[in-house]
Amino acid sequence: MISSSPLIETSHLIKKFGDKIAVNDISFSVNGGEVFGFLGPNGAGKTTTIKAIVGLLQPTSGAVKVAGYDVQLQPMQAKASCGFVPDTPNLYMKLSARELLRFVGDLYELKPEKISERGDELLRLFDLAEVRDDLIDSYSHGMKQKIALAAALIHDPKVLVLDEPTVGLDPKSARLIKDMLRQMADRGAAVFLSTHILEIAERMCDRIGIIDRGNLVAVGTMDELRAMGKGERSLEDIFLALTGGAEAAEITEVLK
Ligand SMILES: Nc1ncnc2c1ncn2[C@@H]1O[C@H](COP(=O)(O)OP(=O)(O)OP(=O)(O)O)[C@@H](O)[C@H]1O
Ligand SMILES: [Mg+2]
Repeated sequence: MISSSPLIETSHLIKKFGDKIAVNDISFSVNGGEVFGFLGPNGAGKTTTIKAIVGLLQPTSGAVKVAGYDVQLQPMQAKASCGFVPDTPNLYMKLSARELLRFVGDLYELKPEKISERGDELLRLFDLAEVRDDLIDSYSHGMKQKIALAAALIHDPKVLVLDEPTVGLDPKSARLIKDMLRQMADRGAAVFLSTHILEIAERMCDRIGIIDRGNLVAVGTMDELRAMGKGERSLEDIFLALTGGAEAAEITEVLK
């Protein structure tokens, strides 16, 4: 069943690194059933926000809840509800895919039968069944991305957070992941992903948040963003208008 209560909620989230304000008072929520896309220029604060959501980084102030649990106050419950795929997965290279899934499944205290049943299913789905006993070290970049996603899904989380999930994936794998994220949301999960690929945001996300220099400058459906965008039609135009696209236009002047 699709739940309409927020599964991810940030409220007045602030993260400073020294004097630098990486995330500046951000509040938003993502409901079960939604795929939420997080866009922003390099250095805007996407990964920092994501790390606060998954409990890898302590906010300077403000709060984050995952599946109703406060990430700071109830970290175990929050983490148990959440799957996370980082931008550069730091996997245990000296494990095989099967060993990694067993290891991660054990961390989530899943029964061994459940781990092998679900693990086999995921390995098959991601086309990794044939190499499941090879060391992850020997995998290509895209294969590493896929095993990272499989590991994030082993406990069937209610909340899935992905930092640029399709970077380096071939079209078939990218489609597989997009379809899978949609299916998870349709089954009631909240999916939060950052991406630079505007076409992904436009086509697969129910709502989009745009962050620029730490500030959440827009949140809404594509139609809502278009309405904000003073006549801009494409997400690219809206994005550039909201995040200083004029500067990009100046480059053509410089290069002339
Ligand atoms: N550990 C850190 N120490 C100091 N500054 C940091 C740290 N992590 C991030 N920052 C700074 O915070 C800001 C936001 O960085 P963040 O990694 O969140 O950006 P991003 O939106 O994910 O960018 P990209 O699209 O390049 O991945 C940047 O100015 C970055 O230099
Ligand atoms: Mg990042």
